[in-house]
Amino acid sequence: MDEIQPIAWVSGNLALLDQTRLPHHEVTLELSDYRQVVDAIREMRVRGAPAIGVAAAYAMAMAARQVASEDASRFLPLLREAAKEIRAARPTAVNLAWAVERLLALAEATPGPADAAQRLLAEAKAIQKQDVEVNRRIGRHGAALLRSQGAVLTHCNTGALATAGYGTALGVIRAAWEEGARFEVFHTETRPFLQGARLTAWEMLRLGIPATMVVDSAAGLLMREGAVRCVIVGADRIAANGDTANKIGTYALAVLAKENGAPFYVAAPTSTIDFSIASGDEIPIEERDPLEVSRLEGVKTAADGIGIRNPAFDVTPHRYIDAIITEEGVVRSPYTTNLAPSRP
Ligand code: MRU
Repeated sequence: MDEIQPIAWVSGNLALLDQTRLPHHEVTLELSDYRQVVDAIREMRVRGAPAIGVAAAYAMAMAARQVASEDASRFLPLLREAAKEIRAARPTAVNLAWAVERLLALAEATPGPADAAQRLLAEAKAIQKQDVEVNRRIGRHGAALLRSQGAVLTHCNTGALATAGYGTALGVIRAAWEEGARFEVFHTETRPFLQGARLTAWEMLRLGIPATMVVDSAAGLLMREGAVRCVIVGADRIAANGDTANKIGTYALAVLAKENGAPFYVAAPTSTIDFSIASGDEIPIEERDPLEVSRLEGVKTAADGIGIRNPAFDVTPHRYIDAIITEEGVVRSPYTTNLAPSRP
């Protein structure tokens, strides 16, 4: 099976597998301007915290190339403006800001716009490559936990599509299967953007791992019946105390897991930990267009005129999280102490 590659640098352009067209159409976008990448992130053509980070790194490299050729005399001020635009594309996933800051710092430390543009591109490629390696390590650390638990439920899409490749929470499931463990896999549909129904289902079918999809609200029943024995999700931002922002609905799953005695795991790279914030109260929650809720594939489903809120993420307090799996290992409570060694 070919590995899914959601992001590629091809002949000087950024090639993105358009995730809004999956699972029925495999369309690759070829982007040459950093503003197109900003739009693609905002429109969720590329999505998932680590994938957004990689796309943002390439957007910075593209911005540097554009500024270097258009107005080299104002290279750094213009690049800082581009960085602000890229950072604002989506607010919750910290990987985006992490990648932008890392590349901006590199540009500031490199004399000469042309050299800086080249170094930024090399750095974006390095971040992309590193992400796949990090995910494989997360997978190896987490696989042991799943092997001992049995049937697992996951939410949203945390697979290759959400990263540079392999995946985080889905990577853990995949790693356990690759090691020969066999257990049932359930995943949610993930209203309203249907990352589960469209993307996780597509990936599971490609991987050949049998999986069963349920509507988000079936999770409680499955846990109560004992059909689901543990839950594993990804993360968009983890505060220093372990509070974790992830796809809307994650908090509800964590509370249900605790009520039903099912361990609840978070799998994420250390670049998703935001040590600058003490708790999840400080994580900005993205609110998206109400049309994502009132329509399905463009077809109206809700009654005209009803008020709608569409928060895209929620925060799960650390007390509901049994372990956070990073590339460095399995971290358990107290998170403020035990995550600290991962600080860059
Ligand atoms: O809105 P999305 O699809 O970008 O949200 C994605 C998630 O919430 C994922 O669980 C998270 O980014 C981790 S992806 C490895």
